[in-house]
Amino acid sequence: MNTTVMMQEYRQQVEQALRGCFRQEPERASLYDAMRYSLLAGGKRIRPVLVLEACRVCGGRPEDAMGFACALEMIHTYSLIHDDLPCMDDDDLRRGKPTNHKVFGEATAVLAGDGLLTAAFEVMVRDSAALSPAQVAEGVLCLSRAAGPGGMVGGQALDLAAEGCDLKLPDLQEIHSLKTGALIRAAVELGAIAAGASQEQRQALDRYADKIGLAFQIQDDILDVVGEDALLGKPVGSDRAGEKSTFVRLKGLDSCRELVRRLTEQAVEALASFEEGEFLTRLAWDLSGREM
Ligand code: IPE
Ligand code: IPE
Ligand code: MG
Ligand code: MG
Ligand code: MG
Repeated sequence: MNTTVMMQEYRQQVEQALRGCFRQEPERASLYDAMRYSLLAGGKRIRPVLVLEACRVCGGRPEDAMGFACALEMIHTYSLIHDDLPCMDDDDLRRGKPTNHKVFGEATAVLAGDGLLTAAFEVMVRDSAALSPAQVAEGVLCLSRAAGPGGMVGGQALDLAAEGCDLKLPDLQEIHSLKTGALIRAAVELGAIAAGASQEQRQALDRYADKIGLAFQIQDDILDVVGEDALLGKPVGSDRAGEKSTFVRLKGLDSCRELVRRLTEQAVEALASFEEGEFLTRLAWDLSGREM
């Protein structure tokens, strides 16, 4: 199957599974509406696709990893809702729509994020019937670590603390690898866990994800300068307005583009031992040139 068709199929499967994650609960309808508003707003679905494909290249069945994939996308979506709040990046547009707090108010947006975060672990356990209890427990450990204070949330805290500061490159790289890299590394690790992958497979995937994770956030910093709101689905210029430390601010656009290219090359090299690394290779290059 060619990689474009595979991507379309993965995305369709993820959308369908995400739609099935919640049943309407009338007495708390507006909270569920707010959760669904952001979760089902589109988005590239890179992280769940990485879960499914990592599982496949390690010899597993992608459908067995769907509970993990949905849980990760729910946590990513919660991180976006909170990231956009006035007390954080204060943005009005996300996934091409008004941000959650603009539509539902700040209190409901905070709770929609909380709801997605906690429901993610419910979905992860509930929808992983094909996996062993040990695999599910390992997945929960992996995702909670990656999402928490030692991962994404920790990176977000450092990102906020660095507003208006002139960081050095290693510190900024640390922020990027936590706020963005942690969930991308978790994606391939979750797929590997669901497949019962070998240590060698896990290490290779981790190296791949580490490289594409950093490249992904550098490209995000680039697009905040040269992107278009309409394509990106979020406001361009948000980093400058928030006096954020970004790779572009530290190194300039040309070096950043070169860095994204080099990181992508390294990511692809890490896949050498996989017989079926074609999709992950193509994905890495597509992400390096993305405009959304
Ligand atoms: C945005 O992530 C936040 C970052 C980590 C840069 P994505 O670019 O994956 O956003 P969606 O999921 O496609 O909306
Ligand atoms: C946020 O990074 C990463 C998250 C954990 C949400 P950014 O603040 O740069 O993400 P965007 O540009 O708003 O999507
Ligand atoms: Mg932010
Ligand atoms: Mg932001
Ligand atoms: Mg950004």
